Amino acid sequence: MADKFYITTPIYYSNDVPHVGHAYSSFIADTLAYYKRLEWFDVKFSTGVDENSQKVVEKAQENWMDVMQYADMMATKHRELWDNSWIRYTDFVRTTEPRHRELVQKVLQKSFDNGDIYEGVYNGMYCVGCEWFKKESDLINWRCPDHPNKEIQHLAEKNYFFRLSKYQDRLLEFYANNPDFVKPRYKFNEIIEFVKWGLEDFSVSRETNKFGIPLPFDADQVTYVWYDALFNYVTYCQEDESKWWPADVHVIGKDIIRFHGIYWPAMLWSAWYEAPHNLLVTGYLTLDGQKISKSIGNVISPAEYIEEYSRDMLLLYLFMGFPIGEDGDFDRAQAILMYNAKLSNNLWNLLNRFIALSLKLWGTITWDVWKVWNEKIELYQSCMNDYNLRSALETAFEYASEINKYVDDNTPWKISIDTEEWTKNLNDILFILISNLRKIAIMLLPFFDVKMRELLSRIGTPYDDTLTLTENLSIDPSVFHVVEKGEPLYMRIGK
Ligand code: ME8
Ligand code: MG
Repeated sequence: MADKFYITTPIYYSNDVPHVGHAYSSFIADTLAYYKRLEWFDVKFSTGVDENSQKVVEKAQENWMDVMQYADMMATKHRELWDNSWIRYTDFVRTTEPRHRELVQKVLQKSFDNGDIYEGVYNGMYCVGCEWFKKESDLINWRCPDHPNKEIQHLAEKNYFFRLSKYQDRLLEFYANNPDFVKPRYKFNEIIEFVKWGLEDFSVSRETNKFGIPLPFDADQVTYVWYDALFNYVTYCQEDESKWWPADVHVIGKDIIRFHGIYWPAMLWSAWYEAPHNLLVTGYLTLDGQKISKSIGNVISPAEYIEEYSRDMLLLYLFMGFPIGEDGDFDRAQAILMYNAKLSNNLWNLLNRFIALSLKLWGTITWDVWKVWNEKIELYQSCMNDYNLRSALETAFEYASEINKYVDDNTPWKISIDTEEWTKNLNDILFILISNLRKIAIMLLPFFDVKMRELLSRIGTPYDDTLTLTENLSIDPSVFHVVEKGEPLYMRIGK
């Protein structure tokens, strides 16, 4: 049986449509899921919407809409955006679905029965922007620094609490035994320090909210949105939990690292589930130094961007311009430069040379030397297995540069037609070009699926679903019959 790989994105709040920051997380998950499929894993890739949130209720009211009607409309918009952006999820959860409600009620009951959930009174502050409880020390001028245009709420109500404090030692032990749990490592240190300072129990219910999942043991209270939302990751696995759980990777932004790195394992353990294997934590995309955010309003729409340029350009820029974990400023001019350099020049140049040479040699092509740069392939695989997309792309483009250089060094255009060596030398160069181009295209498939399939077809070795990175395909000289001059693979932007 094939190994399984289960990867998730955050489920995004459905109080608005996703912006380029959300697309960043979804592209990462999509690319890794695609790569694992190529490596023969059985893949589950889930995404969805977080609906039982006060923000969603408020937004529906602002639009004079019924909350469920509003949530339906927004769920459709999210799906449309992902479908149009080629995000090939296998599961889409809405937290208002019955299958999700049933799961959440089941785990709440388990934790209640074993004493991890108990009744108390919450008296303090709450930020609806974060959907999180705040201490005075978290605030600046009595405002949440991440949501300065939202009033902080004062709450004093009966709540149920989760006994997080009980899990402090187990969490620290888990972190020590799983040094790769959070990637990149410096993000991990941040939560380890936080846990060492000591953990407080947190409220898992709200009395005043009406929209949400009722507690199974107290129907007057609804489940706190984060407790409900995190369990979405298990919802998708219910039909075969023993196969799919624990998840392999949760792709998340650094804004939600505490929920995923601290609360989530403890909530899972309390309900007798294992913790996930990895959290892959991204930094913030900023615009003129400010976090791109729905509540600030400085959003870039991935749909418009893809329409104006292309998905490949956006993805290339997000992955190469922003090493996973670091913040970075989104800059259109940079995106264009990168696209022109990597896709329009480097890659197209290689394909173009291959085309020119095979048209020149057409009819004389006789044999097959298969010579590939194996160390590039191995390096690429280790980057992908480490979820390091930037280095994986760098490796593929360096590989293309080296093959371009190989052609430069061998100056096929100078090899004189009348020498004895003519056919042999040019044939060797041609086969080195085709075998390495094929490898480079396979490496880039998880990123630029449509164009790489086109490339594979144009060199006469089309994509089929048995292809692998480590294959040694024997190339029949007749494949060259399909080679045509054709348009550039990627049109240059600007001059
Ligand atoms: O937090 N830069 O949903 P959300 C990079 N519903 N990534 C960004 C970003 C930016 N400027 N803005 C958003 C929630 N993201 C919860 C999640 S999961 C159980 C519940 C990405 O709509 C990033 O992945 O606020 C971040 O963690 C996520 O969107 C937050 O989306
Ligand atoms: Mg947010």
